Amino acid sequence: MPNGLFLSIEGIDGSGKSTQLDLLTARLEAAGIPFLINREPGGSTVGRQIREILLNPENPVSPVAELLLYFANRAQNVDEQIRPALAAGTLVISDRYTDSTLAYQGAARGLGQALVRNLHEIACRGTEPALTVYLRVSPAVSAERLSAQKKDRLEAEGPGFHARVYEAYEALAAAYPTRMVAIDGDREASLIAGDIWRIVNERWSARD
Ligand code: ADP
Ligand code: TYD
Repeated sequence: MPNGLFLSIEGIDGSGKSTQLDLLTARLEAAGIPFLINREPGGSTVGRQIREILLNPENPVSPVAELLLYFANRAQNVDEQIRPALAAGTLVISDRYTDSTLAYQGAARGLGQALVRNLHEIACRGTEPALTVYLRVSPAVSAERLSAQKKDRLEAEGPGFHARVYEAYEALAAAYPTRMVAIDGDREASLIAGDIWRIVNERWSARD
């Protein structure tokens, strides 16, 4: 059986990940490529319950509890969803993965990169994306896009928090130029979708 392929998509809140995953899903279905979208937080029965805890603005979740909950969610999805799908030859696309935790908890919450990386080893045990699409959108553009929407607990954080998340993604993109492909997300959605499709299709065709 041919190998699966593990990709992730990252970006600040409102960067357009959900919009792009809908467009990508349609193309993958049309091309007959077997795929699984893994959503974090969420993505499994346990993950969806953890998502409720994490995103409810009424929950006073402490920073370390927040960090551990994101990793509990990820560990469950790695074991229950991601590894079995990859073993079955599926294209797995994770809507957020450990880069999100490095940016939001490691950088914006100030818990540090080393702690996040240690927990990543425990939770993910070598399950790493071969390629990460980083949808680059400035905090100003995303704030404008999200201004009319009801905010979840993380989205309701102030502009300083979201600026730190953005700077952390920029640092990750600079540190991992081969794995992370930055795409200008401040364009018409169909143009972005065309870029993402070319990258994903090329990687899928070239997988080991
Ligand atoms: P995310 O999942 O990254 O939070 P969404 O896909 O939900 O982002 O998009 C956030 C908001 O921005 C939505 O209202 C969506 O319609 C809008 N949006 C998404 N992509 C674009 C784009 N390329 N240009 C303008 N607005 C966009
Ligand atoms: P998501 O559902 O992707 O929200 P959106 O579609 O608005 O981007 O993620 C919910 C929130 O969880 C988002 O604000 C980012 C945050 N998050 C973390 O803080 N750490 C993490 O490890 C992950 C996966 C997400």
